[in-house]
Amino acid sequence: MNTARLILNGDEHELPVVVGTENEVGIDVTSLRSQTGAITIDPGFANTGSCKSAITFIDGENGILRYRGYPIEQIAASRATFIEVAYLLIYGALPTPGEMAEYSRLMTRHSFIHEDMKNFFNNFPPMTHPMAILSAMVGSLSGYYPEGTDELNILRVLAKAKTISAYAYKKSIGEPFVYPKPELSYIANILNMMFSHPSEDYEVPEVLERALRLLLILHADHEQNCSTSTVRMVGSSGAGLFSTISAGICALWGPLHGGANQEVIEMLEHIRDDGGDYKAYIEKAKDKNDPFRLMGFGHRVYKNFDPRAKILKEQADNVLKLMGMDDPLLDIARNLEDIALHDDYFIERKLYPNVDFYSGIIYKAMGIPTNMFTVMFALGRIPGWIAHYREMKADPDTRINRPRQVYVGPAERPWVRREER
Ligand code: ACO
Repeated sequence: MNTARLILNGDEHELPVVVGTENEVGIDVTSLRSQTGAITIDPGFANTGSCKSAITFIDGENGILRYRGYPIEQIAASRATFIEVAYLLIYGALPTPGEMAEYSRLMTRHSFIHEDMKNFFNNFPPMTHPMAILSAMVGSLSGYYPEGTDELNILRVLAKAKTISAYAYKKSIGEPFVYPKPELSYIANILNMMFSHPSEDYEVPEVLERALRLLLILHADHEQNCSTSTVRMVGSSGAGLFSTISAGICALWGPLHGGANQEVIEMLEHIRDDGGDYKAYIEKAKDKNDPFRLMGFGHRVYKNFDPRAKILKEQADNVLKLMGMDDPLLDIARNLEDIALHDDYFIERKLYPNVDFYSGIIYKAMGIPTNMFTVMFALGRIPGWIAHYREMKADPDTRINRPRQVYVGPAERPWVRREER
């Protein structure tokens, strides 16, 4: 099968077919408009492949997720560091020990932000959401680092985003900024910059470092999701890396995307405070006249289970146990999941818990405040955005992303003068 046939107004047209590594089939419509004058319509792009990509493979029907061919379960269970996974996603191969050491050194070297940038943090109003601060500060890196190749800026954004995120948090609680420490890993540095205090000794607890490593690795890439497609779209105009990543952060913030992790915990708290009647909330989620949705449920691609959610569900138990905590929200989450998985509404629509359903419970147990959950997701996803940005720029098929439309507004009509309306 290497062509598809389309009959339009009685005329037959042949369209080439692209077949991927795992036999996914795409009908190449690049010549459709020149051949037929017609375009395709696909709101939400559920059937549209925007590019060929060699970074991440997802089989939503079978709950498969692989980074550069490596199954997510194996990566999660390995001793891989977050930076090692970032390297794999960005450059396509596992780093040798020498490459790894050099990459970690560069990551440390670039983790400080320009001292003048600290002034910015003081001028955001106190309740500013840290996602707004993160996107503004990442965008403003172009002012502080106007020179530099893409490769240097990739290191900069990857290394500095964690410092910016921790500073945003410190600012929100009125504590002094903590500089990155060269001897700590990427993950330990995030925790140290968030939780250490100049007046006390602080050692990053191993259980927290392990949990955050896992969370960030599981979020590191997810092919053409909303924020990654935003990155590719903004980058396709030739905009620089910093503005492009800043745009990705904005897209991720939405409650239907990365913002869902904050929404899930707020929903669980709301159910708890409302007396814990989770069954009533299942009914609300099913009611078409009620805008309420079960946050953390459903996914555009996964129609069986989300492998990341499966890993996190197990880890939620472990982390809470290791921290000696018992969170009633975890019970509410498990009960909601159990009911939803046996309810016809959810079964028919193939709605399952997604990565955000359990991540918030782990973040909460780690002492990370709710409004920082999506920031953590962004830190995890930056390697994925960078990998797609690089791939997009190197791809000879890349053109400025500019979809078309079918116009359904008024046909031509004469202008009416103001006094005649
Ligand atoms: N609760 C109740 N009903 C739902 C839910 C939900 N969480 N999700 C989907 N549905 C229903 C829809 O109402 C629709 O029903 P209908 O066919 O009777 O109209 C059907 O399931 C299909 O849903 P769509 O919204 O068309 O699916 P889509 O692929 O466009 O959206 C999305 C996917 C945005 C994730 C959706 O499931 C949702 O809003 N979930 C809650 C938010 C969430 O958890 N987002 C995080 C996604 S993962 C991530 O970005 C990291």
